[in-house]
Amino acid sequence: MKTELLSNKELERAAELLKQGEVVAFPTETVYGLGANALQEKAVAKIFKAKGRPSDNPLIVHIDSQEMLDTLVEDVPENATKLMKLWPGPLTLVFKKKEMVPSITSAGLKTVGIRMPSHPIFQKLIKLCGFPLAAPSANSFGKPSCTTHEHVLEDMDGKIAAIIKGSCDVGIESTIVDVSRDKPMLLRPGKITQEEVENCIGPIDVHPSVLHPNQKTKTALSPGMKYRHYSPSVPVVYVEQENLDTVLKSESGKKGLITSQLKTADIVCRYKTTEELMKNVFSYFRDLEKKVDIIIIDTIPKTEIALLNRIKKAASRIR
Ligand code: TXA
Ligand code: MG
Repeated sequence: MKTELLSNKELERAAELLKQGEVVAFPTETVYGLGANALQEKAVAKIFKAKGRPSDNPLIVHIDSQEMLDTLVEDVPENATKLMKLWPGPLTLVFKKKEMVPSITSAGLKTVGIRMPSHPIFQKLIKLCGFPLAAPSANSFGKPSCTTHEHVLEDMDGKIAAIIKGSCDVGIESTIVDVSRDKPMLLRPGKITQEEVENCIGPIDVHPSVLHPNQKTKTALSPGMKYRHYSPSVPVVYVEQENLDTVLKSESGKKGLITSQLKTADIVCRYKTTEELMKNVFSYFRDLEKKVDIIIIDTIPKTEIALLNRIKKAASRIR
């Protein structure tokens, strides 16, 4: 299959392909998404195939209106209504699903994750299609998410119908909150913090994997949360306790360093703010894995829950 590269002026072409049941990648405010008609089994199957994604890993369904939400979910609990004030944006809410949502989309679960995106290209695309778009991150299974069209092309060239050019603002995937339970639970941290969520609905539960993404907890991981992600093809070392200079001296091979400090290594990705790190972390991974033998990430503040979650998932060692 030839993968078309489209500009933001060619959204009608993208919508036409999606209406034909094809898969199209597009920028969202979080990371690039790999979208297809969420209600069409055959179209959704193509997403799983292109990504090499296991069929028991559910997809997020993206909508453009409350009306569209009502066609997909059984009921909208009060907590959900309150959290929907943060829509459109980088927040996914898990609801009890209606029959309308095919089992393949929700990986056989009785629930479905729904997000109303704020990215203008994505919003316009859903409007043009008139149906909800199922979209995981646009990387091959297990690889870091993509935040540029070049990175999507690396993973998806020849596997999907088209890629729309554009940019992602946040840089990491959406915050996920399960509102189908009596007491909502944070399933994945993102730019929207636990504090912001609790300011809307009061105290919530936090899934153990949010804070300890690498630890095997006694609690079984909830369905759809058992897979490791984000791994670059070279080892990643996160410097949590030890002195950075000691780590740099003791690790061997060509080193790529991600830091905000004035330190040296073979290649340095230097950021000024943690927001900038969030925006670029997956790009750093994808660029560095081509050029170095090992990626070393300097300590970041313990309060950066979402960033730490992604970094610890990617890390092969923590020092
Ligand atoms: O920012 C994002 O959320 C991006 C953009 C494209 O919207 N999408 C994204 O999708 O990150 P993906 O497939 O890479 O991650 C979706 C994750 C699943 O792996 C699973 O952990 C969780 O969302 N999920 C989806 N539906 C769920 C459900 N019904 N119950 C629990 N977790 C669910
Ligand atoms: Mg993903």
